[in-house]
Amino acid sequence: MCGIVGYNGAFDAKEILLKGLEKLEYRGYDSAGIAVHNEEGVTVFKEKGRIADLRKAVDEDVEAAIGIGHTRWATHGVPNRLNAHPHTSASGRFTLVHNGVIENYHLLQKAYLKGIPMQSDTDTEVIVQLVDLFSREGLSTVEAFRKTLSLLHGSYALALLDNEDSETIYVAKNKSPLLVGVGETFNVVASDAMAMLQVTDQFIELHDKEVVIVRKDRVQITTLDGRVIERAPYTAELDMSDIEKGTYPHYMLKEMDEQPTVVRKIIQAYENEAGELTIDADIEQALTEADRLYIIAAGTSYHAGLIGKQYFEKMAGIPVEVHISSEFGYNMPLLSKKPLFIFISQSGETADSRQVLVKIKEMGHKALTVTNVQGSTLSRESDYTLLLHAGPEIAVASTKAYVAQIAVLAVAAYVTGKAAGKAIDFDLKTELAIAANAIQTVIDSKDVMEQIAEDYLKIARNAFFIGRNVDFCVALEGALKLKEISYIQAEGFAGGELKHGTIALIEDGTPVFALVTQEAVALNIRGNVKEVVARGANACIIAMEGMEEEGDRLVIPNVHPLLTPLVSVVPLQLISYYAALHRRCDVDKPRNLAKSVTVE
Ligand code: M6R
Repeated sequence: MCGIVGYNGAFDAKEILLKGLEKLEYRGYDSAGIAVHNEEGVTVFKEKGRIADLRKAVDEDVEAAIGIGHTRWATHGVPNRLNAHPHTSASGRFTLVHNGVIENYHLLQKAYLKGIPMQSDTDTEVIVQLVDLFSREGLSTVEAFRKTLSLLHGSYALALLDNEDSETIYVAKNKSPLLVGVGETFNVVASDAMAMLQVTDQFIELHDKEVVIVRKDRVQITTLDGRVIERAPYTAELDMSDIEKGTYPHYMLKEMDEQPTVVRKIIQAYENEAGELTIDADIEQALTEADRLYIIAAGTSYHAGLIGKQYFEKMAGIPVEVHISSEFGYNMPLLSKKPLFIFISQSGETADSRQVLVKIKEMGHKALTVTNVQGSTLSRESDYTLLLHAGPEIAVASTKAYVAQIAVLAVAAYVTGKAAGKAIDFDLKTELAIAANAIQTVIDSKDVMEQIAEDYLKIARNAFFIGRNVDFCVALEGALKLKEISYIQAEGFAGGELKHGTIALIEDGTPVFALVTQEAVALNIRGNVKEVVARGANACIIAMEGMEEEGDRLVIPNVHPLLTPLVSVVPLQLISYYAALHRRCDVDKPRNLAKSVTVE
C-alpha cells in the first residue's frame, strides 16, 4: 500500500526521504516521488517504477532541509508518472502526498472545483486543489487544510507542503496509518516506524482527524476544531537489524528461517514466573465469558483463523465462526447473545478488517486483536490485544506471522480451556517447543524443497493442494503462498471435495500436493490421492513421521496433532519460494500486491 515519509530538520532531506521510501518498499507500490522545499520553492521529482528509478530522476544538486515523499499503490488512475504523488495544486502553491481513498472526491470536484484543470486521474488531487481554493478565498493554510479535511469522506494519511512557508509540514490522518517521529534537531513523518528508524526511535501516535503541524523544533497536535492535544512519544521496539536482510537474498527466506525462534519467543512472552502459559486476566475472562467467538481476518490471517477455530472449539469448548473481513461487514450473520470478536492481522492495519471493527464497536461488542504490530490501528481500537512477537515481517508473502498467529491462538485457547476446567491432557509449552524443533528440521532440509519445486512446478500451469481436517486449512495457505509469489494458479481443497467437480481439471502431470498429518483421516486422504493419480496427477505427499508410506516425497517430524499446521506449512512455504525463484519472480515484492492493504 502507499507509504508516506516527511522530514523537517537540519540535514539534507532528499537522502533521508529516499532511504525512508526504500524502507517502505515492502508495502508494495508502483510509483514513487518526493517534494523538497528550499529557498527556490518546492521541487517535485516522481517516477513510475521502483525507488531506484526515482533516485535517477532526482537532481543530486538540490539541497533542502524539508520535504515529503510517497510510494503509490494505484487505486484511482493507472500507475504512471502523472498519477504518482506528490500532487501540486493548479496555482503551484501546495504540494501533497496521500495514502487512502477519498470516496466523495467526484462530488467535491463538482461542488467546488469546476473550471480547475485536473492534471491527474487521482482522488488525491482534489484534496490539494481544495486547500488551494480555500486559501485563495482568504483562509490561512492550516484553516484551509482543516476545512478541506472536514469535507473528506474516506481514508487518508496526508502530508502537505506550502510553497510560501518553508518551515512546516501539515499532517493529518483518518483510518490510514501515520506517525510523527521526533529528534533533537528535526521531526519526521512516516507511515510506519521502520521508514524513519534510520534517524529516530521516538514516535508519536496520531489519532484519526487530528491536524498536526510539524516544524523542525516542534510538533503540535490539534483536533479538527483546533484544540491542542499533548501526547508523549514512545520508543519503537525495533532495531535496524530486524528490518535488514543481512546476508539473505530475500526477506522471505530470512523470515521463514526465523520461524523456530518466533515460536520459542512466543513461549517466553506468554509464560509467567512459574513457567506456565498465561494471557492477561481480562482477556482470559472475555474469552471464557463469550458464548461464541467470531474470528475476522483476510488472506493468510484468515487461514490462521480457520486453525484457531479448531483450537478454541477443541481446547476451550467455545463455538467459533471464522469470517473473511471484506464479506462480514456487508453481510453480517445473526450474532450470538454474548459474542467476542477476534481480529487476526499481521499488520493491524487491514482496512477490510477495520471496517468490521468499527461496525461491531458501534454495536457495543468487545474485540480482541491478534497482531504483530503494537500500536497498530486494530490494536488501538480493540479492547484487548495479543501480540505475535514475530518481529517485523517485510516480505509481502506472510510466513512467520502465520506460524506466530497459530501459536498465539493455541496459547489463548489452551489458557482459556484450562481456566474453564476443560480436560486438556497435554502440556502446550512442551508441545510448542517440540514443534519449534520440528520446524527447524524442515528448514534444515531446504535442498529437498528446492528439488520438489523443480520436479513438480518448473513448468506447471496450475497446482492443487489437498488435505483433510487441519491439513485442509494448511492446504489453503499453501496454495495462497504459491500463487502470490510464483503466479502459478493454485487452489487448496478439502481432499474429499475434489471429486465433486475440480477433479475434471486433473491432467497428465498436474501437480497435487497432499498433506497427511491427521491419523483419523490419513486413509481417506490417501484414497483421494489415488483418485487424482489415476487421472494422471503428479502427486507429492508430505506425511508426518509415523504415518508415512513408501513413495511419500517428504516426511516431517512428529508433533502434537493440533500443532501440525505449524510444521506442515513450512515445506509448502519453501516449495513456493523455490518455485518463484525458478521462474525468476520478485519473491519479496510480487506484482500487484501490497503488504498491508489499507484500502477496502
Ligand atoms: O496484515 P494482515 O494480516 O491483516 O493482512 C491480511 C492479508 O492481506 C495478508 O495475509 C495477505 O494475504 C498476505 N500477503 C499473504 O501472504
